[in-house]
Amino acid sequence: MKTTTVKEALTISSLIGEKVTICGWVRTFRSNRFIALNDGSTIYNIQAVVEFEEIEEAKLKKINTGAAVQVSGTVVESQGKGQKVEIQVNEFEILGEANPEEYPLQPKKHSLEFLREKAHLRMRTNTFGAVFRLRHAMSFAIHQYFHNKGFYQMHTPIITGSDAEGAGEMFRVTTLDLDNIPKGEDNKTDTSKDFFGKETNLTVSGQLEAELGALALGKVYTFGPTFRAENSNTTRHLAEFWMIEPEVAFADLIDNMNLAEDFLQHLAQYALDNCMDDLEFLNEREIAEDKLKPQIERNELNLIDRLKFVTANNFERITYTEAIKILENSKPYKKKKFNYLPEWGSDLQTEHERYLVEKHFKKPVVISDYPASFKAFYMRQNEDGKTVAAMDILFPGIGEIIGGSQREERLDVLKEKCKAFNIPEEHVWWYLETRKFGTCVHSGFGLGFERLVMFVTGMTNIRDVIPFPRAPKNAEF
Ligand code: 4AD
Ligand code: MG
Repeated sequence: MKTTTVKEALTISSLIGEKVTICGWVRTFRSNRFIALNDGSTIYNIQAVVEFEEIEEAKLKKINTGAAVQVSGTVVESQGKGQKVEIQVNEFEILGEANPEEYPLQPKKHSLEFLREKAHLRMRTNTFGAVFRLRHAMSFAIHQYFHNKGFYQMHTPIITGSDAEGAGEMFRVTTLDLDNIPKGEDNKTDTSKDFFGKETNLTVSGQLEAELGALALGKVYTFGPTFRAENSNTTRHLAEFWMIEPEVAFADLIDNMNLAEDFLQHLAQYALDNCMDDLEFLNEREIAEDKLKPQIERNELNLIDRLKFVTANNFERITYTEAIKILENSKPYKKKKFNYLPEWGSDLQTEHERYLVEKHFKKPVVISDYPASFKAFYMRQNEDGKTVAAMDILFPGIGEIIGGSQREERLDVLKEKCKAFNIPEEHVWWYLETRKFGTCVHSGFGLGFERLVMFVTGMTNIRDVIPFPRAPKNAEF
């Protein structure tokens, strides 16, 4: 059966006067005549006008919010306000009923918290439809961006024997019988009996493997799921999230920053150029939400203006050491408003990042050259011996959106780093060999995909930008 999407019916003017068949879900049904029909192809509904005489009463009773229907009829210019065209229906089928006593999504405002509990249905709402169409658009734009720049996508393993970030917060992968774990002489788990003959986990990052790829194919990127078993129940952390990790040979930290900035600006521009219907809806939604908030919590710029701002302005670039100086001279520091004192040598806290990005610079900030002590082993040691060639990009309202670095390409320095981080060389022998054979300057970064989607949708909880979020004590659906 040939069907037309709501988006096609609303936008292809040559369809006016033509007979079309549209399948979708009823959003509302008024005056026993007007169905607002949505099929997910666009934020907009199409109005399907059913003539009472032509349809039997029993069938009419089943046109409830949430029901799946198929309508056939002529596309005509609309008489009513608010839409250009509508469907004059002459054939009508109920495909799947939705009992109004039970269907949870009624045509009224539901809270995001309520909808999180109904994640199997929430994609049928305007807000989540818009969010997940934008999520798709960003995914597509990312592949297109790298493809056009000569990068190759690399599929790195999801099950891994290494811990790239050294964070130690990994999900164990095992086929051992948990009620009867084989023990070795030291009474520790005998991992040689496990499926892979060694300890394995879900990956926290594809970076180490991406580096191997970059040192052969020049420019590569990964785009895959990553897993972190950190017990942080925040609005910015997931236990399963998607990360994009480009890695480039013969590129230093500055090249890396330039790529990251251009990439983020391109993605914001892509959304503005291709997703305006959904952006306008989310923009209006945010403005309405803001009105309910105290002045101080409202957005200074609305969603669309924030995207435009990012495309139009260079990001601020400062070193970690400069960031600490700015913080030490700040009002909240002098008035003892920070919960944690900013101090050279300790990691920046969220409150510090927010001050720098939202109060001091009021724009995206790239912070580089962090102390080696709290950064990963693979980051390149700077000449000062204290800092590494790292860079984080912080966005207003989001915090860290990108983390990356120039990589340590000197074999002797890298071996020292492994020692200092207690990483046995035999665990990463393959990584070390790339420094032995044809090593070169190279750099890369990781973009948290959900944090990007938060930025382009204005959603403030990361659980609302991934269809089925995984977080501590939360793996429903
Ligand atoms: O800063 P991270 O930990 O860096 C890495 O994993 C490097 N291997 C990347 C690289 O250089 N190739 O993570 C990168 C980004 C963060 O900036 C953040 O946007 C996101 O991944 N991220 C998370 N997003 C959601 N939930 C979490 N638990 C996240 N942890 C990191
Ligand atoms: Mg980071």
